[in-house]
Amino acid sequence: MYDVLVVGSANADLTVRVTRRPGAGETVLGTDLVESAGGKGANQAAAAARIGGRTALLARVGGDAYGELLLAAQRAAGTDVAPVIVDADARTGTAMIIVSPDGDNSIVVSPGANAALTPDDVAAAKDVIAASAVLSLQLEIPMETVRAAAASAEEAGTRVVLNPSPAPEDLDRALLSAADPLVVNEHEARQLSGRTDGTPAEWAAALRERGARSVVVTLGGDGALVLDDSGTTMVPGVRVEAVDTTGAGDAFTGALATRLAGGAALAEAARFAVRVGAAAVTKPGAQPSYPTAEELARLPEPPEQP
Ligand code: RIB
Ligand code: NA
Repeated sequence: MYDVLVVGSANADLTVRVTRRPGAGETVLGTDLVESAGGKGANQAAAAARIGGRTALLARVGGDAYGELLLAAQRAAGTDVAPVIVDADARTGTAMIIVSPDGDNSIVVSPGANAALTPDDVAAAKDVIAASAVLSLQLEIPMETVRAAAASAEEAGTRVVLNPSPAPEDLDRALLSAADPLVVNEHEARQLSGRTDGTPAEWAAALRERGARSVVVTLGGDGALVLDDSGTTMVPGVRVEAVDTTGAGDAFTGALATRLAGGAALAEAARFAVRVGAAAVTKPGAQPSYPTAEELARLPEPPEQP
């Protein structure tokens, strides 16, 4: 039925650009406020749908204007929003985002309706999970809900892609061993492998020892490192000018999930996903910056692998 089902968060992103981040107790002036569609789960779904994956989203939004904005953005991307629950008693999740001149961001999330996505919601979507090739997960909803979704997918033979973000102190083995792959950035790789030093290859190996079936370490402009049964593959980055990196990792994960659903090998899927993530950093915002297949074709090709 679907290439990719995303179970996860949806946030309205409230973004201001600043010339520098404020310190404690300090006030700085920024640009006009921009409200746009975000949230790690919704972002993954939008990225998958924009590049043509048959995609559905299970999330909760509030019965407010931000909820409407998020639903409209998903529909425009091509996501099936039938599983989305509009929760009249909750406020839509919001993310307060500041973006610095180099395109880097700092984010504070107020979960709102995301906190009310329960294992019961997942149980009600059991058939949708079973009918999807890939289930894509992140950690902006309650951990017990993420666990329930992963367990349901495993039972149905649906492949699980897990981006453990925001990075938790630790991940339980059941969740780690459902991940095929676990998609981590450098910060998450360090945190979850328990190694403050080392190389991406070492973090990936440590995460696999801890149970992950396969691992992708995203390295921003330097591409990604992939570790699975066929060994370690370094996927080169695509050099672009960074305008706003918000949600680039989510774009990567959504694109990766789509290619895996289509039967690609992990390294091949990561090669494609690196391009989608690169395209996303060239424009402001998360979902508004995600490319269609045609837009992607305009990016420079990465160097051939040695
Ligand atoms: O990963 C980026 C996302 O993190 C933003 O869209 C924001 O909503 C937060 O969830
Ligand atoms: Na962007």
